Amino acid sequence: MTERIISSKPESDDSKLDVNLRPRSLDDFIGQEKLKDNLGVTMLAASARKEALDHVLLYGPPGLGKTTLAYIIAHGMGVNIRITAGPAIERAGDLAAILTGLQPHDVLFIDEIHRLGRTVEEILYPAMEDFALDIVIGKGPGAKSLRLKLPPFTLIGATTRYAMLSSPLRDRFGAVYRLDYYTDGDIENILRRSAAILGVQADAAGLREIACRARGTPRVANRLLKRVRDYAQVRGTGIIDCDIALTALGRLEVDAVGLDNIDHLLLKAIIEKFSGGPVGLETLAAAISEDSDTIMDIYEPYLMQLGYLERTPRGRVATRRAYEHLGLKVPRSRLTEDDAPQASLL
Ligand SMILES: Nc1ncnc2c1ncn2[C@@H]1O[C@H](COP(=O)(O)OP(=O)(O)OP(=O)(O)O)[C@@H](O)[C@H]1O
Ligand SMILES: [Mg+2]
Repeated sequence: MTERIISSKPESDDSKLDVNLRPRSLDDFIGQEKLKDNLGVTMLAASARKEALDHVLLYGPPGLGKTTLAYIIAHGMGVNIRITAGPAIERAGDLAAILTGLQPHDVLFIDEIHRLGRTVEEILYPAMEDFALDIVIGKGPGAKSLRLKLPPFTLIGATTRYAMLSSPLRDRFGAVYRLDYYTDGDIENILRRSAAILGVQADAAGLREIACRARGTPRVANRLLKRVRDYAQVRGTGIIDCDIALTALGRLEVDAVGLDNIDHLLLKAIIEKFSGGPVGLETLAAAISEDSDTIMDIYEPYLMQLGYLERTPRGRVATRRAYEHLGLKVPRSRLTEDDAPQASLL
């Protein structure tokens, strides 16, 4: 698959960009005000009590700042951060080694925590709850169980799939924060900050054009900014204004609300091949030769946020707004539709 400019997943040349542009403190972190307020209070309180921060679960679509927040928490608490990911911890012993290596109050960040294996997850329960590691020595009737004490630590879990987390794991987090798509205004502020860090000159109108196509996602916003900057440098005066932004974004084939060819393909497939739906996820995936998980995690959340697509018990449905956006005739059955955007994304 070719790389999508508006993909919310990290892409190959993002890593350097991500590090430079990543906010280092809660004050630098733009948007998500409620989350920041709550998190800030918990961090202050735990620091004042000289305790490890309660375990934190961060969930929401890719590119909204989960990893960034994990770094901010560790930095703000003045502790080390140990980073790993669900699929990387294959055996219970791997996790045990990580846990015994932690210093008091350290942060252990587990990305994609929904992909932890069952036996590994079971090691986590006593570790999170009692800061204890249960080790079984030997096999069969003679096996003995030993309990090792761990230093108090903070587990930060991140996931794009809250629903896939088992409830015992979910229940062991002291705080659960959901990250929402950013408003265009927040994204504009993020772009302004990024432009300053990158040393790019951009006016408000130019940034606004990029912001409204960034799918409410800082990672996408920063990537678009970089591409528009290149265009401004080669084809313009180096300054990003409205005209340059519009031309550059047009060439990148990102439409006025941030949809690209694949989004269009998906919506058109529902509309043209399945009369607007409902169509089952697997059938839809086969029709556009995409992986159903990718459709569910990457494409659908933003289309649902825009109110272009609905997930119903009978399958995916293209809404009246989708027809209108694509400039297609709205069928009579859709004309009476109440097309308020859906509140639930996950
Ligand atoms: N609130 C914010 N303010 C400014 N920049 C942000 C903010 N949130 C995220 N970013 C930028 O977006 C980039 C992506 O964020 P991050 O890597 O934290 O996303 P994520 O939620 O962990 O994504 P994934 O689910 O793919 O792991 C960061 O490098 C950072 O530059
Ligand atoms: Mg991340």
